[in-house]
Amino acid sequence: MRPSIIARSTIIALTLVMMGSSAASAASVEQGRRLAVVYCMKCHAIDKVSPSPLRIAPPFRSLHERYPVETLQEALAEGIVTGHPTMPEFRFDPDQISDFLTYLKSLE
Ligand code: HEC
Repeated sequence: MRPSIIARSTIIALTLVMMGSSAASAASVEQGRRLAVVYCMKCHAIDKVSPSPLRIAPPFRSLHERYPVETLQEALAEGIVTGHPTMPEFRFDPDQISDFLTYLKSLE
């Protein structure tokens, strides 16, 4: 094989890998957002601009200002219970957690 062909196929392969992973993370954001729509949107703002429907519930876009959103990973796995009695307990499985955190990061 001539070097130029090797170089070209390497570039094509790398491009495909990069396209694949950005598509995967876009899908993850979408999945995470869907979880927020289904379970959280009643109280929390889930986009970049709206106020929360429930005033005392922090908009999701503001969470990262208080702590790295990864710190929610454990809470989401074990059942997130916060200081607010109105919020039902939520527990996500590992795939859901990773999607949800990817979505939260997309709001930063
Ligand atoms: C019925 C209303 C309601 C729903 C539904 C709800 N929350 Fe909340 N959430 C609140 C309120 C109110 C607060 C603020 C409580 C406080 O400050 O103690 C809050 C706070 C939080 C916090 C911040 C906790 C902290 O100490 O920083 C997180 C994270 C959170 N909610 C995640 C979620 C997630 C994830 C969902 C969906 C799976 C969800 N909430 C659904 C009402 C709700």
